Amino acid sequence: MEIQIAPSILSADFCNLERDLEKISNADMVHVDVMDHHFVPNLTIGEPVVKRICEVTDLPVDVHLMIEDPDRWAPGYAERGAHSVTFHMGATHAPVRLARQLHDMGCEAWFAVRPAEPVEPIFDILEEFDTILIMTVEPGFGGQKFLANQMAKVRRLRDEITRRGLKTNIQVDGGVSPTTAPIVAEAGANILVAGSAVYGADDPAAAINQIRDAAAAAYRD
Ligand code: DX5
Ligand code: ZN
Repeated sequence: MEIQIAPSILSADFCNLERDLEKISNADMVHVDVMDHHFVPNLTIGEPVVKRICEVTDLPVDVHLMIEDPDRWAPGYAERGAHSVTFHMGATHAPVRLARQLHDMGCEAWFAVRPAEPVEPIFDILEEFDTILIMTVEPGFGGQKFLANQMAKVRRLRDEITRRGLKTNIQVDGGVSPTTAPIVAEAGANILVAGSAVYGADDPAAAINQIRDAAAAAYRD
C-alpha cells in the first residue's frame, strides 16, 4: 500500500486556515482534529468549520473525532463532506452500527485506539473499518513526544491484516517527523499524520515530501 501523509491543521494558524491549507496541497489528505473538552482536555472546532474546510480544499478531509458520544455526532461530519470519520474505541457504544451508518452515507469509517488500549478487541470487527488509527501520543495536543512503545501494536495489527488478506490501512498520529517516519513505516503503518513537523517547518510542502520519502524507504507491506 502507498504511504500517505495527512498534515494535521491543529498546528496551523486557525485565523488563516485557507492560506495554511494551500501550503499542504501536495499532501494526500488533511487531518482535522475535533476535540470537546471532555474526551480530551482540549477544545478545537466543530461542524461549521469542518464544513468550510471541506468546501475550500481539494484534499480528502480526514476528521479525527476526540469527543464523547461519537455515535451521536459522527454522522454530522459525514454529512458536511468528510471523506473519513475516525472515532475512538473508548468513546463509542456501538462501533459496528456507527461504521455501517457512515458507510451508508458514503463516508469511510476509521477506528482509533489510545496508547493504553489494546488493538486485539478490534480483530473481531476489523472488516468494518477502512483504517485503524494507532495513537502514538496521548490524544489532545500537538507537539508531544512520539511513543515508540506503540510499534509492537502496529506490528501485531499489520500481521493480522496481512494474514487475513485485508486492505485495511494503518494510520499513526502523534510525534511523526522525518526522524520517526521510518520507524512507523517499518512497523507497518501507511498513513502518517504530522502536525508540528509540517506546520512548524519553514516549508511545509518540503516537510511533507521529506516525511513521505523517509517512510517509503522503510515501509513494510
Ligand atoms: C493529537 C492530535 C494530532 C496532533 C498531532 O491528539 O490527534 O493529530 O495534531 O500533532 P503532532 O504531529 O505535532 O504530534
Ligand atoms: Zn489527530
